[in-house]
Amino acid sequence: MKITRFATMCCLLAFAAITFVLPVLVSAEEPPRNIGYGRGGRMQGGAVSSRSKEPIKPIPINFDDNRAKTDLGKKLFFEPRLSKSEWITCNSCHNLSTGGTDNLPTSIGHKWTLGPINSPTVLNSKFNLAQFWDGRAKDLKEQAKGPIANPMEMASNYQLAVDVLQSIPEYVGWFKDVYGEGKITIDNVADAIAAFEETLTTPNSRFDSWLNGYDEKITAEEKAGYDLFKEKGCIGCHNGFGVGGNSFEKFGIAKPYDKDTQTLGRYNVTKDENDKYVFKVPLLRNIELTAPYFHDASTWSLSEAVNVMAEYQLGIKLTENETSRIVAFLKTLTGDQPELIYPILPPSSANTPQPNRN
Ligand code: HEC
Ligand code: HEC
Repeated sequence: MKITRFATMCCLLAFAAITFVLPVLVSAEEPPRNIGYGRGGRMQGGAVSSRSKEPIKPIPINFDDNRAKTDLGKKLFFEPRLSKSEWITCNSCHNLSTGGTDNLPTSIGHKWTLGPINSPTVLNSKFNLAQFWDGRAKDLKEQAKGPIANPMEMASNYQLAVDVLQSIPEYVGWFKDVYGEGKITIDNVADAIAAFEETLTTPNSRFDSWLNGYDEKITAEEKAGYDLFKEKGCIGCHNGFGVGGNSFEKFGIAKPYDKDTQTLGRYNVTKDENDKYVFKVPLLRNIELTAPYFHDASTWSLSEAVNVMAEYQLGIKLTENETSRIVAFLKTLTGDQPELIYPILPPSSANTPQPNRN
């Protein structure tokens, strides 16, 4: 009898300890957080972050893609037969193994033609207010048609590109599944590629974790770099989800940029004198992966790029120490790179146009 009472008491005490005391102890150590899981593991901390008012926003994780469409877009992104030589793909110049760029001063296109301008990354490009350095394409879908028919890039044309896909029964089936039509159109090709590109975001950077409340994710030096980035005025142009991509700005506000006066930028679109040398502000996400820098690839060094910005955009000179802190901060913006299974493409049929290398 005594033993049973003792056991019951113990049980009650243990129960009380687990339900009332333990949670208090645990939460005293670490406040409760909303934990989610994303590509590459754990993500997102405090649900209501004290940092939600920061001018840079963490990249949201998106799960609601149309899988059939993004899979088709992925195949097309890696499809060499969309080019005249049947050798060049979107990935040739926007290599997803190297930060969505080719790491070349200017890209190499059809017949080894050197393009006129540095290739920007496709990663996070959905956060751009428009596409291209001069913003001449309003969105990713409009953009995707450009390189296929650009004689210096893939050098095909819309009819040829569509004929190639239409000659391959697997593509006809996939386009029918996604768009409900037996006839492939260039609009749908661009739409599928754009849908795939929308998935190419890089969440979970150390900086985003810090924004989400994980203090220990960036060092004191990196934090000091971020403070400088705000104090000195970089943040005025590089902000939001992409840390850029939200406005067009003149390159050379404080001091005329003299290394390249041939590329007119936004002027080509608007023909407005004030738009000469105005460019879309580039995204600084994954910036450590995407050298060389600037539309004219005038430097391979991130520190030098930061110093050029200070001099030409803000009219200030940074100390060596300030530059290296800002660079340290910029390197915290590298996020989870898209993990892809390399797509296997269907074989050509007897009706598929042959490659043309001329
Ligand atoms: C031969 C190299 C080359 C190929 C092939 C190529 N691109 Fe590009 N891409 C570039 C260059 C160079 C630019 C910048 C051109 C400009 O701004 O005038 C660019 C710009 C872009 C942009 C705009 C990014 C931004 O920040 O403004 C996107 C998106 C893009 N390309 C996607 C694609 C897709 C999709 C394909 C395949 C259909 C493709 N590219 C094929 C070189 C290439
Ligand atoms: C007034 C707007 C403005 C301000 C302020 C500004 N930038 Fe920029 N930034 C731009 C524009 C526009 C470009 C593209 C220039 C070009 O290549 O034509 C750019 C390009 C860059 C690049 C190269 C990106 C690439 O992919 O090639 C880096 C890095 C950069 N900025 C960092 C900074 C830093 C650091 C600061 C503060 C010291 C800063 N920016 C201040 C507008 C601005």
